[in-house]
Amino acid sequence: MDDLLRLINGYQLSQAIHVAATLGIADRLAGGARDAEDLAVATDAHAPALYRLLRALAAVGILHEDADHRFALTPLGEGLRTDVPDSAAGWAAFIGRPYHWSAWSQLLHSVRTGENAFAAVHGVDVWTYRAEHPEESGIFDAAMTALAARVTASVLAAYDFGQFEVVADIGGSRGTLLAAILAHHPHLRGILFDRPGVVAGVDLGERCRIVGGSFFEAVPGGADAYILKSVLHDWDDETSVAILQSIRRAAPAGSAVLILERRLGPPNAEPAGKLSDLNMLVATGGRERTRDEYARLLEAAGYGLVSETPAGPVSVFEAR
Ligand SMILES: C[S@@+](CC[C@H](N)C(=O)[O-])C[C@H]1O[C@@H](n2cnc3c(N)ncnc32)[C@H](O)[C@@H]1O
Repeated sequence: MDDLLRLINGYQLSQAIHVAATLGIADRLAGGARDAEDLAVATDAHAPALYRLLRALAAVGILHEDADHRFALTPLGEGLRTDVPDSAAGWAAFIGRPYHWSAWSQLLHSVRTGENAFAAVHGVDVWTYRAEHPEESGIFDAAMTALAARVTASVLAAYDFGQFEVVADIGGSRGTLLAAILAHHPHLRGILFDRPGVVAGVDLGERCRIVGGSFFEAVPGGADAYILKSVLHDWDDETSVAILQSIRRAAPAGSAVLILERRLGPPNAEPAGKLSDLNMLVATGGRERTRDEYARLLEAAGYGLVSETPAGPVSVFEAR
């Protein structure tokens, strides 16, 4: 029963961690333990209420409360610092944002109708909403940067990008993955492509061209590999095929498409993928997919799946 109740009440913990991340609590504890009064002054919070938040986080092992009611980071809580490798801070700061949260409040609508809850709540799709709310776009892009940084090492270790000359990252956000690929392979040149507001001001050095635009209109030509990382899961099948076809129109003959996505696991296992799939249903109208489902999308767009290379939490699906 306790286990069941913990799952039922899971949103409370999610929001508690989100609030701690928004207040930058972990960074403020990087130098050692502090009490709630001290942290409340630093974060412009109500000290008694902040104490209640911190003791709840201590009860689940993210913080440790000592006999003087001072709080310190546990090894788990260290992951909420913004300055550590593998930081989850950016994702935690995003996941509980009220506009995203309110879409999740309408999961029932999605389950009843199959429709995207975000559009039902906000009247526009998530990308239009973020373009109209630059602060939210910035928080989301930082979350993507944090998540991309978490998989970069495993992707570089598992897959040889050195076989290419020019790698384009389509929907590449602010270029975390592409920058790491270029640093790892000094002969490579890169093209970073995303919506204009996302790539504005990004500079990845002279070996990388930055291009703003929409993959529904045109993507840049001239690359021999086109990366789509965590992009197709944002879209339904028909739209995903349209994105792949847009790449196919621009890409030189023989070039590769590299889909980097989490592969949906077997029944009764791997809940992270299944929950991410619900997040896609609610937030973007997309879905997580199995290997066969990616193969079918590729085929519908005129590509053939050549290989799947597991790379930590994601797979590299290579198509030609
Ligand atoms: C889930 S994020 C993934 C970002 C990055 N590839 C990563 O894995 O960190 C999806 C990206 O698709 C971009 N995107 C959405 N619609 C787009 C469009 N029409 N044209 C180009 N990029 C788009 C978003 O701006 C966002 O950066």
